[in-house]
Amino acid sequence: MTAPGSDDEVMQEELRGSGSIPQHIAIIMDGNGRWAKQRALPRVAGHREGVNSVRDIVEACGQLGVRCLTLYAFSTENWKRPQQEVSTLMRLLVKALRDETDRLYKNNVRLTAIGDLDSLPTDVQRELSDAFEKTRHNTGLNLNLALSYSGRWEITEAVKKIVSDAIDGKISGDNITESLISAYLSTSAIPDPDLLVRTSGEFRISNFLLYQLAYTEIYISKVYWPDFRRKHLYEAIRDYQKRERRFGLVSEQVKHLQTL
Ligand code: IPE
Ligand code: IPE
Ligand code: MG
Repeated sequence: MTAPGSDDEVMQEELRGSGSIPQHIAIIMDGNGRWAKQRALPRVAGHREGVNSVRDIVEACGQLGVRCLTLYAFSTENWKRPQQEVSTLMRLLVKALRDETDRLYKNNVRLTAIGDLDSLPTDVQRELSDAFEKTRHNTGLNLNLALSYSGRWEITEAVKKIVSDAIDGKISGDNITESLISAYLSTSAIPDPDLLVRTSGEFRISNFLLYQLAYTEIYISKVYWPDFRRKHLYEAIRDYQKRERRFGLVSEQVKHLQTL
């Protein structure tokens, strides 16, 4: 918790004053297994500890005024991990949703999810829909979990829906624009991420938000996810604030646009 006048509140105030706060932050929460291995613990211990990082980052994002936080929690490819790890991860997810939903509700967080949710075990689906229902009227941070998600899966699904709507005569070839494609993605209701953070020092996207990351600023942290806390997020945001987002333009144009 952040007490009024605490060091954390001062730090958040400084961050708000030193530049814009990213409206949408996406995080590839990586390094749970290596965190555990370093401590000679089973991989699952890393996943369990990672829940504490999620709690801290969600709270900090809510306080900072971030609008949306998308967390990559389980990829399409992660289903191919040893069956025992997959089932433990699913059990942890059920437990985390049960334990955390009240807190999310009280903190005005609205929970949503993207991915092939139908492929999740039924108890996970049940906890998710209870949490969606409970938090749906909240107006603060939108916490968006990517579960059984991959960018290629999502694009494939969008193409299928576009073709089906075209066959039904709802859209024609002329209607197919970049914004129409965005509207068929699972992130249609949220803006593209401003900042992507990946923990554990890996420099890759691993099939995350392939369409949406076109002009996202990328920040790689060496810290393993179970050790990642708000101070690390603040470092990422500070780094983001120092950058010039040019979107293909030249610097002078960007500066001119900022004066308008
Ligand atoms: C991220 O940590 C969590 C999931 C992918 C579910 P990992 O489990 O990938 O941990 P490392 O990368 O093996 O250390
Ligand atoms: C990406 O991490 C997926 C999640 C964090 C959920 P992985 O650990 O699965 O990615 P790779 O295999 O190292 O690329
Ligand atoms: Mg990994």
